[in-house]
Amino acid sequence: MAVISCDIKRHLLGSRTRRAKEPPLVKGWPYFGVILDYGKNPLAFLQAMRQKHGDIFTCQLAGKHFTFVTDPFSFSAVMRQGKNLDFHKFAMGFSQRVFGHCDFTSSLYTEAYREVHSLFIQTLQGPSLQRLSQNMLGNLQTAFQHCKPSGNGWKEDGLQCFTTRIMFEAGFVTLFGKQAGLLQPEGTGSVGHKVKEDFLEFDGAFPALAAGIPIALCRRAWRAREALAKKLLHGELHHRMCISDLIQRRMDAFDRMHLNETEKARTNVCMLWASQANTLPAAFWSLYYTLRTPEAFAAAYKEVELIMAQLPNDTPISLSKEQLESMTVLESIIREALRLSSASIMIRLASDDFILTMDSGQEAAIRKGDYIALYPRLIHLDPDIYPNPMEFMYNRFLDKNGERRSQFYKNGRQVKHYLVPFGSGASECPGRFFAMNEIKLFLMVVLWHYDLQLNEPQGTLSPDRTRAGLGILPPSQDVLLQYRIRADRYMERSREKEF
Ligand code: HEM
Repeated sequence: MAVISCDIKRHLLGSRTRRAKEPPLVKGWPYFGVILDYGKNPLAFLQAMRQKHGDIFTCQLAGKHFTFVTDPFSFSAVMRQGKNLDFHKFAMGFSQRVFGHCDFTSSLYTEAYREVHSLFIQTLQGPSLQRLSQNMLGNLQTAFQHCKPSGNGWKEDGLQCFTTRIMFEAGFVTLFGKQAGLLQPEGTGSVGHKVKEDFLEFDGAFPALAAGIPIALCRRAWRAREALAKKLLHGELHHRMCISDLIQRRMDAFDRMHLNETEKARTNVCMLWASQANTLPAAFWSLYYTLRTPEAFAAAYKEVELIMAQLPNDTPISLSKEQLESMTVLESIIREALRLSSASIMIRLASDDFILTMDSGQEAAIRKGDYIALYPRLIHLDPDIYPNPMEFMYNRFLDKNGERRSQFYKNGRQVKHYLVPFGSGASECPGRFFAMNEIKLFLMVVLWHYDLQLNEPQGTLSPDRTRAGLGILPPSQDVLLQYRIRADRYMERSREKEF
């Protein structure tokens, strides 16, 4: 009992003492540690701590100790520690708390869940990727058709609203299929609009949920999550057509695990969130930077024109894998937008005491129960790797011949993990190739079918830092977009489908 109360006291008072070989310990408030300074601006805080303490240091954040590794050359050293550093326990704990599904790390489910997990690669990569991308392209064209302005005049909308409306609908239908027999297109009062609004309500609560606030206290988010789950019950999905292999095979696997219907539906909400939460802001920034940078727009448009010239113009657009891969300018634009807007944190839980050997040879003792954290934004905005790091350069990821560039250097040494918006190692996003394709296709269709211009007040749009740690930062506010349809191109290729 005495030991327990001593432990609680130490925890509350924050009186941890640094042991031999442990990284420098950043002092903060009892229990809360440095949460306020970190929360205000994680990037600035970590840069300042790196300056003061070096490449590795430990901070207390709301009762938990996080050891930040800030040296890009030591990323691999962390990734190699699969035995001592656990990704799934932390991720599953968070997922379970936020999405309300059962604990798949429990021995009851571990074996069956391994099979579910392996479906990501089987259905999002390799041969499945082309089919999925092709479906996305068809659904994008339908989504554009649903929200096309009447007549040929200019229309105004927020760029974020515009992007979200189209990408959400197309992405949703691509994974979860379209409602069989529904004649009403997406629009006011339809199923699609409500699903999108619920998604945005739920997603909006993520900073609070990540800070540890129970979802039961975020009433609107909780209601939105439950409404989404209702929509994604297996019984409902059985009425939809063209469901992706990913969702169909997950449904089959979860049916075999004998979960209750609500729990199964909540795993679908989880999948919906993973597939949309980062893709929507990434698509926004990609289009935003393209439209506000004349050279980017010109190069992107030229590339799209080249592709379109190869296609018959009396059928909906359809691309081969090679055509999709050949759009290196669009790819560079997206990668640059990801570099500037990505703020995910990679977190691992130390399952044992162990020694982490940094790239420099420095040895750091890591305590069992502590977290190791990598913040790739430090790399993405490092001026030694990316000159003028805050500037959008559409061709940063192209070499002199217009081919993909994949060699970046710091102090003359090649950096392996130079762009990590999709995570790395055990937590690397299995949907990364699909996400890149989705955004590429979105840019292609929108640039081809619309005249677009931003009506932006002076100054640069800043990202919403309250979401730092959660992935791609959305903009802090929307930007006015004026657009009109290129009637000559639109009608002949479009086709009607329902959301
Ligand atoms: C630009 C878009 C995207 C970005 C930046 C992104 C980024 C990430 C990151 C950083 C993680 C690791 C999270 C962690 O460490 O806890 C992750 C995981 C994941 N992502 Fe993505 N993602 C994107 C799009 C997608 C899409 C389109 C899908 C699926 C259709 C998807 C499916 C997943 C899944 C299933 C996981 C969890 C993997 C696991 O548990 O092993 N993502 N994503």
